[in-house]
Amino acid sequence: MELHPLISGRWSPRAFSDRLIEQEKIDLLFEAARWAASSSNQQPWRFLYSQRGEEVFETMLDCLMDGNRIWAKDAALLIAAVAVDNNSRSGKPNGHAWHDVGLAVGNLSIQATAMDIYLHQMGGYYPEKARELLAIPQGFTPVTMIAAGYLGKPERLPENLREREGAPRKRKALSEIAASGKWDFGETA
Ligand SMILES: Cc1cc2nc3c(=O)[nH]c(=O)nc-3n(C[C@H](O)[C@H](O)[C@H](O)COP(=O)(O)O)c2cc1C
Repeated sequence: MELHPLISGRWSPRAFSDRLIEQEKIDLLFEAARWAASSSNQQPWRFLYSQRGEEVFETMLDCLMDGNRIWAKDAALLIAAVAVDNNSRSGKPNGHAWHDVGLAVGNLSIQATAMDIYLHQMGGYYPEKARELLAIPQGFTPVTMIAAGYLGKPERLPENLREREGAPRKRKALSEIAASGKWDFGETA
């Protein structure tokens, strides 16, 4: 048994090609997100998106920190993933909302990989700026921004980023993240 290629083949590039993403494929990305599991089926995710060349794309770029903007400007698509803060039935805070947004983005990312589209999620942005510029109302909280596109040539990146592109990806050992039974990580908070 091997890891599924849709999981092992995913990574977060910074070099994107000029090719835009067809609207049909964009719709499929969000269709994949739509089918994610969520606590009480609240589906507490909302996505705003814009394609390169559109006015809102520049607005979204303005929300990114410099270190991300420098390469994300070449992405085909920028997405803002937003959480719905409260449970729509009880009106109380939904403690699982961010978890569920992450699940939806996970689905989106698998569907993207199946279509040769790569995502680069970003926490390096200004949430309050995004709220203001993208008209996100209170009761909804920006979680991440995501750059997406087809793979491009690393040569188009500034030199310091070029080396990092395609560098071996690192992960903790399985024994560091999963234990059978009780807590056994020898790790204190
Ligand atoms: C919530 C989140 C925030 C991230 N923020 C940034 C970011 O601001 N800038 C960046 O270059 N990468 C960012 N990343 C990408 C991670 O650095 C990357 O996923 C991680 O190094 C593992 O690499 P891989 O996705 O290629 O496996 C973020 C990823 C996630 C999930």
